[in-house]
Amino acid sequence: MIVLIGYMGSGKSTVGKVLAKQLQKDFIDFDKYIEAKENQNIPEIFKQKGEVYFRKKEAQYLGELLEDNSKAVVSLGGGTPCFGNNMQTIIETSPNVYYLKLSVDTLIDRLKPEKSYRPLIKDIADKDLSEFIRKHLFERNFYYLQAHHIINVTQQTPEEIAGEIIEKLS
Ligand code: S3P
Repeated sequence: MIVLIGYMGSGKSTVGKVLAKQLQKDFIDFDKYIEAKENQNIPEIFKQKGEVYFRKKEAQYLGELLEDNSKAVVSLGGGTPCFGNNMQTIIETSPNVYYLKLSVDTLIDRLKPEKSYRPLIKDIADKDLSEFIRKHLFERNFYYLQAHHIINVTQQTPEEIAGEIIEKLS
């Protein structure tokens, strides 16, 4: 299994699709997997059941996903590696965990117009968004940096990123 992790907006799903196609493997977007299992989209789950419920289900479905799909390319949610024992489970299951690292300024530019679809940032005022993302990324880097490979994606196209991942595959 090839696992892509990284902050919201770092291009995990886009790169995952390109990579899966190039390697002729299945692609699984973990956010979509959770939505299908729960029969509800993620903004609705957050709104109706709250983040604690979401994180509990996320950890549960992560266990299922890692057991069943040994040959797939998987893109995880931005927060998936950062709760409970998730990151440990991820790096023990696959030798191919990639952190797609984007500069904080690029993340802010990308996320600002998409804020309303993203439950964690939708209520943060534009003027506070930059500080929030800097702080949040700093906290999450502790988990992301445990990935086997760190790919700087700021200046690269999805095809170039997929190529770099393939070169580094174990
Ligand atoms: C989250 C990121 C989202 C989604 C949920 C929580 C996070 O996934 O799982 O909104 O905690 O960063 P993407 O990174 O795919 O947007």
